[in-house]
Amino acid sequence: MELKLHNVNKSYDNKEILIDINLELKDEASIAIIGPSGAGKSTLLRLLSLIEKPDSGEIHVNKYDLNKIDPDEYYKKIGFVFQSHTLFPHLTVLRNITLILEQVHKKTKEEANKTALDLLNRFDLGEHIHKRASQLSGGQSQRVSIVRGIAINPEVLFFDEPTSALDPVLTQEVLSTILKLREEHMKFVIVTHEILFAKKAADFVIFMDCGKIVEMGNVDILENPQTEELQKFLSNVFLW
Ligand SMILES: Nc1ncnc2c1ncn2[C@@H]1O[C@H](COP(=O)(O)OP(=O)(O)OP(=O)(O)O)[C@@H](O)[C@H]1O
Ligand SMILES: [Mg+2]
Repeated sequence: MELKLHNVNKSYDNKEILIDINLELKDEASIAIIGPSGAGKSTLLRLLSLIEKPDSGEIHVNKYDLNKIDPDEYYKKIGFVFQSHTLFPHLTVLRNITLILEQVHKKTKEEANKTALDLLNRFDLGEHIHKRASQLSGGQSQRVSIVRGIAINPEVLFFDEPTSALDPVLTQEVLSTILKLREEHMKFVIVTHEILFAKKAADFVIFMDCGKIVEMGNVDILENPQTEELQKFLSNVFLW
């Protein structure tokens, strides 16, 4: 995917959350954003997915200028997976996926069913299709959210800490699903605190601290961090 950010700023209540972010990536398939709590990672992801707009600056994702594109058009091109609880609890697994395909992407009922069933089977969720979303385990629920994210065949999928609400076993289940996406050449940007996963799954790593990109590069920066901030962050992460 192509990502271009030029002098991007964002404040909430007069507090600067993102400060003059600049970035130009031409051809990275998977990008991990890491950094301490409050660094601005989720804020950056919300700007990249056009859930919010920057106060100033320009953002391009692939060929889309996010200052210019109609958000509804953009939402048809991308997918988003949040921390948790984003399925409609009273609808079945199958309906959670076909709904968006029919209503937003104007697929026929048959097309939507076929796409949803193919994907659910491919991601080992075939036996759960008739359960209500509220009856799933946390890991299953998150995997269904991922399937819903890719069902529209997005150009890029954005993940914001998709495993932070899960225990270690379910975390592995969801991370394996994301690795499978990578093998299938899905492009994604993931905010994650799973550093070992970032090492495995990302082509490019962005380390943020206090509203800025402090260090970025290929996964080698996780082995060999150049800045004091990243060194400190990694040593804290691996403390226990
Ligand atoms: N809608 C908002 N209104 C006011 N302040 C906000 C809002 N969203 C985020 N902030 C503030 O912006 C800062 C950065 O938040 P953000 O959620 O981007 O951090 P983060 O790096 O994702 O942290 P975490 O790892 O804890 O999820 C925080 O201080 C947060 O309180
Ligand atoms: Mg966050």
